[in-house]
Amino acid sequence: MQRQNYRWQGYTVGVCYYPEHWPKTMWRDDLMRMKAAGISTVRVAEFAWAIFEPQEGEFSFEFFDSFLDLCKEIGINVIFGTPTAAPPAWLTEKYPETLNALKDGTLLRHGARRQYNYNSRVYWSLSARIVEQLAQHYGQHPAIIGWQLDNEFNCETDEFYSDADHQAFRMFVKEKYGTLDALNEAWGTVFWSETYTDWSQVYCPRPVLNDGSNPHLLLDYSRFISESCIRFAGMQADIIRRYKKPEDFITTNGLFTNLDNHRMQNEILDVYTYDSYPDFAFEVDKSAPDLKDRMWTRNLIEARSVCPHFGIMEQQSGGGGWVNRMEMPAPRPGQLTLWAMQSVAQGADYISFFRWRTAAFGTELYWHGILDYDNRDNRKLREVKEFCSLLHTLDPVCGGENVAAFALVKDYDNEWDARLDVVHRRFKAHSEAEIFAASELYHTPYDIVYLNDDTGANELSKYPVVIYPHPVIMTESRVSVLREYVRNGGTLIVGCRSGLKDLRGHAVMLPQPGLLQELTGTDVCDFTFTSQSEDSDPDTPIWNDILTPLTDTKVLDTYHTGYYAGEACLTEHSLEKGRVIHLGSAFSRNRVKRLFDYCGILEPFSEYLSAPDGVELVMRRKDGHTFIFVLNFQRTEQKITLHTPMTLLCSGETADGEIILPPYGTAVYETEIS
Ligand code: GAL
Repeated sequence: MQRQNYRWQGYTVGVCYYPEHWPKTMWRDDLMRMKAAGISTVRVAEFAWAIFEPQEGEFSFEFFDSFLDLCKEIGINVIFGTPTAAPPAWLTEKYPETLNALKDGTLLRHGARRQYNYNSRVYWSLSARIVEQLAQHYGQHPAIIGWQLDNEFNCETDEFYSDADHQAFRMFVKEKYGTLDALNEAWGTVFWSETYTDWSQVYCPRPVLNDGSNPHLLLDYSRFISESCIRFAGMQADIIRRYKKPEDFITTNGLFTNLDNHRMQNEILDVYTYDSYPDFAFEVDKSAPDLKDRMWTRNLIEARSVCPHFGIMEQQSGGGGWVNRMEMPAPRPGQLTLWAMQSVAQGADYISFFRWRTAAFGTELYWHGILDYDNRDNRKLREVKEFCSLLHTLDPVCGGENVAAFALVKDYDNEWDARLDVVHRRFKAHSEAEIFAASELYHTPYDIVYLNDDTGANELSKYPVVIYPHPVIMTESRVSVLREYVRNGGTLIVGCRSGLKDLRGHAVMLPQPGLLQELTGTDVCDFTFTSQSEDSDPDTPIWNDILTPLTDTKVLDTYHTGYYAGEACLTEHSLEKGRVIHLGSAFSRNRVKRLFDYCGILEPFSEYLSAPDGVELVMRRKDGHTFIFVLNFQRTEQKITLHTPMTLLCSGETADGEIILPPYGTAVYETEIS
């Protein structure tokens, strides 16, 4: 179950601000300009440890006292960051055991950020002390409305190899397995004579030939990193809760890997905030190159699964780039608003732009903010102002629910297995990108649901269709949730290699798809990797499980290539009121579109409006009202057609029939149809 203790009451715009980067004489003017633009909140202090504790044990609060007092005077709210992402030079110099290390043991030194590890006792106690000092001193400050823990846990790297981590990992697996025999069995160490005879021989992954570490150890290592991070965050949250005002929230920002973000939210945070940088689509995330910045919607759906009404702590406002890496274009006119509306459409109630002004020094010299180095008003500031006014016309939507045609099901065991297993990673990444592409292009939106130990079938039952693309690791308890969902009338769709492994990452010695066979009604007697072979077919990509239908199972489609041409690649098995569809391969967008159509969920908004595939459509509902976001991701005009009169929220005017959206244009309509 998701926990959320904090909700924004009405859309709110903020900005990330670094008072320590500017002369104090600029603060007043900056805050007044923010206010005039419609910005009400600043996030500060997340990298300012050296200011708060310039020498070990000497604390200094005057700098931020004067900044917070000014915020109070001007009427700007503050989200206060704990500074543990950037330890001061004196700290890591004196206590090198607090540093993170590369796999080969090389320590990561002062001069960048996130160079620390979660398991050093020294770092833990110095962090606890600075957090306590800050919480005690600023906890009751009237300008503060919330606290951000650290900055982007597991960003920059999500792997830790310091001595403290090796020791803590040893403890973690000792607690988990109790005896070395149990550990040896779980990790299959008899293979290649890896058998451990003393706990002191157990380490986090270390350099090995061909990077071929034991996969079962790697799976536990991901669990260990996640656990270490959550404990470190929890320590900070517990301290802040003792001092903060009851109404103030605790959050953290970003969404990174080797981390159970859902557990973090449910156990520690009041609300989650995500950092949205759609420009990465031009630089890093090339999984669906045709979708570019639209791919970012996928991450926002994931953020919504962590916390239904989340915030954006860092919303990109300028072109990205560090001096040593990354080259990204500036948002074109209209694109800054489009990206912010992309976040709002997916459920963000708070939008905080990164950053007020571009830093004139440091590694992020080219990570551009709203204002440029010259500090003059510019087109980005004009767009932010217009966005703030626009957003207030959307207040009736704030806190509304997103309407989804289906759920994409995931779980952390499979997330982590796909990190270490390159074949799993290949088909998982491909399928998830293609399911997203089909959903976007054919206007069939989805929610993401993570299965964990306490997910009930009721959490799936609100979706007529759930796609669990590749549950390679499967457990009895997950099977029973899926069984109940299907028996009650749901349609479950699974792809290749489902049910292959158990929680340890061992292949189960059962006919495939293992524990899922009773649901799929199929037997996988033969299979092959096809990615680089002449058998590859874009509609049955990467991996082919050749399906033998068992009693009552219908064949919906067959393979067209390979020695198994004509054999089943897609089947359907009915189970009481529901059915299970089994695809023997990874998913392509054409296949997904045909499945949407077959299951009757394709384009659920077509009675309201039609839009070309370059336009994103999102539906939200609140208090019996229905709203539709229309986002043009193209650099050209796009024509949409409303099939019923609707109210354009930003003007209150009635719209109907053909509408031309300008390049990067957005619109939000309210419709009477519910
Ligand atoms: C985020 C981070 C910010 C800034 C930004 C641009 O990941 O939280 O501090 O670094 O990226 O690189």
